[in-house]
Amino acid sequence: MTALADHLRDRIAEDGPLSVAEYMDAALTHPRLGYYMSRDPFGRGGDFITAPEISQMFGELIGLWCAVQWRAMGGPDPVNLVELGPGRGTLMADMLRAGGGAEGFVESLSVSLVEISPVLKTVQEDALVGAKNVLKARSLQWWSDFSEVPEGPLLIVANEFLDALPVRQFQKTSEGWRERMVGVSDDQKEFRFVLADGPPEDGAIPPDLSGAGAGAGAMAGDGDIIEVRPAAAALAEAIAGRLARQPGAALFIDYGHAESAVGDTLQAVKDHEYRDPLTAPGEVDLTAHVDFAAFGRAAAGAGARVLGPIGQGAFLEALGIGARAEDLMAAEPAQGREIEAALARLTSEDAMGRLFKVMALVSPGLAPPPGFEVGPPQKGLIPTPPFGE
Ligand SMILES: C[S@@+](CC[C@H](N)C(=O)[O-])C[C@H]1O[C@@H](n2cnc3c(N)ncnc32)[C@H](O)[C@@H]1O
Repeated sequence: MTALADHLRDRIAEDGPLSVAEYMDAALTHPRLGYYMSRDPFGRGGDFITAPEISQMFGELIGLWCAVQWRAMGGPDPVNLVELGPGRGTLMADMLRAGGGAEGFVESLSVSLVEISPVLKTVQEDALVGAKNVLKARSLQWWSDFSEVPEGPLLIVANEFLDALPVRQFQKTSEGWRERMVGVSDDQKEFRFVLADGPPEDGAIPPDLSGAGAGAGAMAGDGDIIEVRPAAAALAEAIAGRLARQPGAALFIDYGHAESAVGDTLQAVKDHEYRDPLTAPGEVDLTAHVDFAAFGRAAAGAGARVLGPIGQGAFLEALGIGARAEDLMAAEPAQGREIEAALARLTSEDAMGRLFKVMALVSPGLAPPPGFEVGPPQKGLIPTPPFGE
């Protein structure tokens, strides 16, 4: 048992079973014992690898996306460039380097990093030492929650952030929906899933999932599980509220489903392998698929224009990842195989190209951003020299 497991067992003994969301929240972000709070989990030697860590092409294209979108917003100065859950800071570093190719863009930025982990904040500070030279004084700041980010025109980027926000789970029974909870076995040694005694509070499950509407919930049978992510809905509403007041755009990239669906997607990963989510809380990464339909509904309801989701592969190809890969291979022929492998991993349907999806939220009145245009495919954002290698 981990130290966090001992703590959670005591909590359950005192207050009864925890909701899956409470368990996930503690497992990831308990101030002392949470998974993200005490480690850098990325890369080959870590537990998992994310798109910006696979290739610089990912961050570069997103940096150019932001620069193009900034121009479409009229080039406000200053503009808040916000990253939610910046990991190692690699994505932001690549974005700023590529964004330097767009005249006036980087100089107008006030960069905000929303990060809950003190350990990762230090890693990000190191990754962004060079960026400080190109940004204006005091324009690189850290916050622990999006609500702290100063008001003003904004561009938001979040890669694999939503999947780390806690989900509540509900299971269909012959007596209706019951919340799935985490309790302990009779001998107190293991965690196990149990069901809440009574029905959930009114409004806990949206109609399309509960079966009250025509959505996925109407198909649910006894034993089926659905997931709801209140923290993501609250974030969508907060961002959309800002986009309705001031010009801006937000890009969310994550793995998940385009339509709300029935199914248990809670998963744990350690050392690049799947584990049991109830074993070793605090020592394994816990995530659940993003329900983009629910996220988009919450944002649209609060006033944002919602585009997508589209597959990560289609998005990156529309931005010109193929051309960027060719440039890099021409500049570094010895790394040709590595670049090709990264390109395939980021874009192909059987890797990250389809499961990972991209959704944009923009201020009402703004045109669809790059990658989401209606009509014939665009040429991509490449080349926008100088690009940097
Ligand atoms: C899976 S990592 C993604 C990292 C990075 N975006 C990337 O693509 O490499 C999740 C990131 O979100 C941060 N995080 C998780 N929950 C958070 C929360 N509630 N508030 C702020 N940051 C959070 C983690 O510490 C980590 O930096």
